[in-house]
Amino acid sequence: MHLGTTLTRFLIDEQRKYPSATGDFTALISEIATAARVISREVNKAGLIDLLGYQGNVNVHGESVQKLDQFANDTFIRFLSHTGFLAGIASEEMENVYQIPDPYPKGKYIFLMDPLDGSSNIDVNISIGSIFAIYRRKSVGPQATMEDFLQKGREQVCAGYIIYGSSTMMVYTTGYGVHGFTLDPSIGVFLLSHENIKIPSRGAIYSINEGNEAAWAPEVRRYVELVKSNGKSARYVGSLVADFHRNLLKGGIFLYPADRKNKNGKLRLLYEASPLSFIVEQAAGKGTNGHQPILDIQPKALHQRVPLIIGSSEDVDEARFSGGV
Ligand code: AHG
Ligand code: MN
Ligand code: MN
Repeated sequence: MHLGTTLTRFLIDEQRKYPSATGDFTALISEIATAARVISREVNKAGLIDLLGYQGNVNVHGESVQKLDQFANDTFIRFLSHTGFLAGIASEEMENVYQIPDPYPKGKYIFLMDPLDGSSNIDVNISIGSIFAIYRRKSVGPQATMEDFLQKGREQVCAGYIIYGSSTMMVYTTGYGVHGFTLDPSIGVFLLSHENIKIPSRGAIYSINEGNEAAWAPEVRRYVELVKSNGKSARYVGSLVADFHRNLLKGGIFLYPADRKNKNGKLRLLYEASPLSFIVEQAAGKGTNGHQPILDIQPKALHQRVPLIIGSSEDVDEARFSGGV
């Protein structure tokens, strides 16, 4: 397909390739892209908030200003709950699952998200993102059940992320390769910019928060010494989406192991580790907890954490530890 093809056209052409496709997906991804454009606009305005005299949670008009991660959460819900494609939504920002309310029809898919990833970077103009995963619903009753949300990553039918960076990009997979679209802000449309992304099998970058070194297990320390002596460069933004995206395109390894402070690692299985692992596997890379593929882990709780080692396949193969101490 030509670079510059619109996301909508790309989705329609992909749908034609699979005669069994109903078109639900095409519409769902289009709505995700619309929510992403709205969030992107707010993210771009974030730096103006002080300039325009917004104070606390109230802006100059006396309206309350939501925290951006709450705004992102609500925006996805607003754009997705009426579609009829979803039965329920889970989010980092919501303790419990969100059931699609009446009168909207309940659909056959489940949506999980980290609506704003890297939120500590908002105020300092560093890239942040959104991450999502979509599963087929398992239950049949009037409401989605926990079983619908606690599925192995292997069962994902779609995963993606949006990065609000020097440009806004959406990257997703439905299990047929990984494709990236860049938002052209002048026309408000995502255009195909990265077709069928493959991560190099080896990279020159390692990404880990070395500030945690004192809490690391000896095996983690040994590993980081090894990659340094092999000449790898450190790159760590502190927004998972941004660190992942860079390594996906350039090759490299990202690690957030377990340590003495974070006994199960820090990142969340269902809406951070799993969707990015589906994407990286589709791009010929790997995502593990140090012992098994992330996609093979049976989730036990909505917000469970997991050690994450993800990136170029040969690099990930070398890092066989969870860091548990
Ligand atoms: P979130 O903003 O969604 O809570 O995620 C923050 C995460 C992730 O984006 C990043 O990789 C990690 O926190 C950074 O953690 P440290 O500051 O501990 O390195
Ligand atoms: Mn996050
Ligand atoms: Mn978040």
